[in-house]
Amino acid sequence: MEMRERHEHDVLVIGAGGAGLRATIEAIAAGASVALVGKSLLGKAHTVMAEGGMAAALGNNRPEDNWRVHFRDTMRGGKGLCDWRMAQAHAREAPDRVRELEAWGALFDRAEDGRMNQRPFGGHTYGRLAHVGDRTGLELIRTLQDHAVHEGADVFMECTVVRLLVVEGRVAGALAYWRPTGEFVLFRARTVILATGGLGKAWKITSNSWECTGDGVALAYHAGAELMGMEFVQFHPTGMVWPPSVRGTLVTEGVRGEGGVLTNSEGERFMFRYVPEMFEGDYAETEEEADRWVEGDRVSNRRPPELLTRDVVAKAIIAEVEAGRGSPHGGVFLDISSKRGPEYIKAKLPSMYHQFKELAGVDITVDAMEVGPTTHYAMGGVKVDPETAATCVPGLYAAGEVAAGLHGGNRLGGNSLSDLIVFGRRAGAAAAAEAKDLDLIDVADGELEDAERQALSPFAREGGRNPFSLQEELQQVMQDKVGIARTEAHLHEALADVRRLRAEVDSCSADGGRAFNPGWHTWIDLHAMLTVSEAVVLAALERRESRGAHTRIDYPDSDPEFGRVNLVIRSSDGRMVTDAEPVAAPPDDLRRLIEEGV
Ligand code: FUM
Repeated sequence: MEMRERHEHDVLVIGAGGAGLRATIEAIAAGASVALVGKSLLGKAHTVMAEGGMAAALGNNRPEDNWRVHFRDTMRGGKGLCDWRMAQAHAREAPDRVRELEAWGALFDRAEDGRMNQRPFGGHTYGRLAHVGDRTGLELIRTLQDHAVHEGADVFMECTVVRLLVVEGRVAGALAYWRPTGEFVLFRARTVILATGGLGKAWKITSNSWECTGDGVALAYHAGAELMGMEFVQFHPTGMVWPPSVRGTLVTEGVRGEGGVLTNSEGERFMFRYVPEMFEGDYAETEEEADRWVEGDRVSNRRPPELLTRDVVAKAIIAEVEAGRGSPHGGVFLDISSKRGPEYIKAKLPSMYHQFKELAGVDITVDAMEVGPTTHYAMGGVKVDPETAATCVPGLYAAGEVAAGLHGGNRLGGNSLSDLIVFGRRAGAAAAAEAKDLDLIDVADGELEDAERQALSPFAREGGRNPFSLQEELQQVMQDKVGIARTEAHLHEALADVRRLRAEVDSCSADGGRAFNPGWHTWIDLHAMLTVSEAVVLAALERRESRGAHTRIDYPDSDPEFGRVNLVIRSSDGRMVTDAEPVAAPPDDLRRLIEEGV
C-alpha cells in the first residue's frame, strides 16, 4: 500500500451542499478547524436544483403567517410522522436563517413594498418561500460557499469518501479518494458531520444529479447508525417527460406557485377532483375561485388545488395517465401561459423558460409543458437527535436530506432549503462543541489497508458485470417495482433483485487506471445505492398501508397503528433488520394546533 495523504481537523464535514456549508460555517464560528469534503466541484452540489425557494414564516406576504402556522403545515404535510421537535425548531428558526443569508449577501426577489417576496407553494397556508426567480438553491450555495471559504474552511473538492473510520464505537474520521487521481486520502477528525444529500439516483426517472447515490446513508449504516423512514421517497409531481434524454429533469413547483395549472388530454383542470378530506376547505372548489386567488384575492385563502401537497398531486397525475387522459408522452399538461404574461414568466421563471426552450423546443410563454412525476427527495435517512443532529454513533452527526425526522411521510416543497440551513447550523454547533473535549483517535493501519484493498478490488479482477449496466438494471428495478404505487409482490421481487445485484457487484472489474475512471467510480457508488435500495424496499414491505409518499395498492388506506410508528433499520449480525418505533407525541398545545389549528 502507498503512503497516503492525511489531514487532521476538529470537525470533518462530508458533503458541500447547503447543509454541509452551513455546518462548516457554524463549526468554524465555534472555534473548530473544519475539513469540508465534497464529491463534486464546490458550488455544484445538488442543492442548486432546489429551485423554487426556501420556506420561512417571515410574514411579509401575510402578517397572519408565523412559525405556528408553518409548523402546523409541516406536520400535516408529513402525515403524522414528522418529529414535532424538529418541525418546531425548523419553523421557529427558518426566518432568522434566511435573514442571515441576506446579511451574507444573498439577493432575494423583492415585493413591491421592498421587502423580501414570498411565493406560494404546495401545502403552505400562505405564500412563504423566499426565492431568487427559480434559482434559489444556486443563490443559497453561492452565498454559503463564499462565506465558508472566507471564514477559513479547508475545502477538498472531487473527493469521495469510501468508509467512515470507527474505533471502539466512536467515529475517528474517514478514508476517501481523489476522483481525478484515484489516490487515497485520510481525514482524521474529532467529530464528523454527514451532509451528503439524497439517494434519487437509484431510480431511473429522477431529478437528482449524479452525486445523489445515497452515500451518507450507506456510510452511516455501515458505521452502526440507525436509518428511519426509508420507505418515504418523494416523487415530485412535475418533471420533464419529453424528450427522453431529459426525462425527470425538475420543473419547479414555482410554476404552480406562480399560477400554473394542470390539465389532462381532455382539457380538464383535474386537480379539483383530488382534494383529500383532510384538506377540504383549504382549497378552491371552482376555477373561478382559484383564478381569483391567483389574481390576488386572498380573502378566503382557498388556494388552487394544484397547490396541494406533492404526494397528492403526483398520485393524481398518475391516475389521470392510467385513465387514458395523459399527454402524448405519458404525462399531463402544465400551463402558465394562459395565466401570466411573457415578461412575468421570464422574470419569475427564467430557468424554466430556457430549460423548455433549449431542451424541448417549447416556449412556455405560449404553450403548455408536458410533465410527470420524477424521483426527487428522500424523507427518510439517518436517524438523528432532534436537538443536535447527533446519530447513535458517538461523534457522528447528520444534517439535511441525509437525515430523517423533519419531513415524516411527505415533505412540503421549500422546506428542504430551510431544513439545510436550520439543521446544518445545529449540527455544526454540536459537532464543534463535542470536538473541544476530544483527542484525535488513531486508526489502525490494518483498517485503512482493508478499506483500500476493498475499494481497489475491481482492478484485481477481469470480466464480470459492467458497473454501468448493473447500475441501469438497479435503476429500472427501483423504477418499476418501488415507484409511486407499490405491491407486496413487486416489492418481494425487488428485494430479490437488489440482493442478486449485490452479489453480482462483487464480480465487476475495472479497466484502465485509477485516474478519472468513471467505471470504477460507478462501482464504488453502487455499494451505497444497493444498501439504500435494500433499506427502502424492506421498509416499504413492512409498512402495510398507504401514507404520504408511500402508496401500497394492496393496502390503499392509512392505518392508524402505522400512523403512530416510524420504521427504523439497523444492522444486526450483518443483516438489515427493521423495527417499529413510536413517533414522539407533541405536547397538548401543539397537538391542538396540529389537529384543530388553535
Ligand atoms: O420544485 C422545486 O422548486 C423544488 C423545491 C423543493 O424540492 O423544495
